[in-house]
Amino acid sequence: MDSYRTQYEKFYEAEDYYWGKEPADFLERLIALKPPRRGMKILDIGCGEGKDAVYMAKKGYTVTAFDLTEAGIEKTKKYAAETGVKINAYVDDINTFETDERFDIIYSSGTLQYLFDDKIASFFEKIQKMTNPHGLNYFNVFVRKTFITDAPDWDKEEKLWETGALFTWYADWKIHYLDETIFDCHSCDTPHQHCMDSILAEKMIMNYRK
Ligand SMILES: C[S@@+](CC[C@H](N)C(=O)[O-])C[C@H]1O[C@@H](n2cnc3c(N)ncnc32)[C@H](O)[C@@H]1O
Repeated sequence: MDSYRTQYEKFYEAEDYYWGKEPADFLERLIALKPPRRGMKILDIGCGEGKDAVYMAKKGYTVTAFDLTEAGIEKTKKYAAETGVKINAYVDDINTFETDERFDIIYSSGTLQYLFDDKIASFFEKIQKMTNPHGLNYFNVFVRKTFITDAPDWDKEEKLWETGALFTWYADWKIHYLDETIFDCHSCDTPHQHCMDSILAEKMIMNYRK
């Protein structure tokens, strides 16, 4: 297991779905702002076992999804096939992925903290270029609070962000939602807490340059 970059490679080998199959709540905000139309494209970064990607494909979006784990991508494909939807799912790394495609919605849940420090600026530059005009970005990230201890299933490559750091990348976008929440988590059967910052922003047409 130590040879894996993420422990999720091992966790996802189990038959059960580590994160379950319930889609995340934030997806309803995305759907309300950009209801599915033919050919509307979504990118899910760090899709895990595909619960959110499959839900969005079921809603009618054209979904691309990647994760570092082969086991997660296998389960994403299996779940998509069982549900009767198609997803372009593949193994890739949030630090190095490249694509010429453009998307109407790009989101990532619980994965930004795997970005290496020297990749954060180029990641947001790339993502924002890949987003169509009036397209949406949703991201969340775990943030440091001195009164919250590290989660028992914290990965060796994960790094907590500082409060508000995520929001600074969206100064020029229309903000639909910003939030910081502390919540209980029961992953790995050990109750613990996380603090998470979230943003939902829309890419506007720039009328002027500063
Ligand atoms: C907390 S889980 C969230 C999974 C999924 N987004 C969900 O909400 O169910 C974090 C995910 O990031 C993936 N991951 C870890 N390092 C990664 C990397 N360098 N590039 C892409 N994904 C990575 C893990 O395999 C895992 O699936």
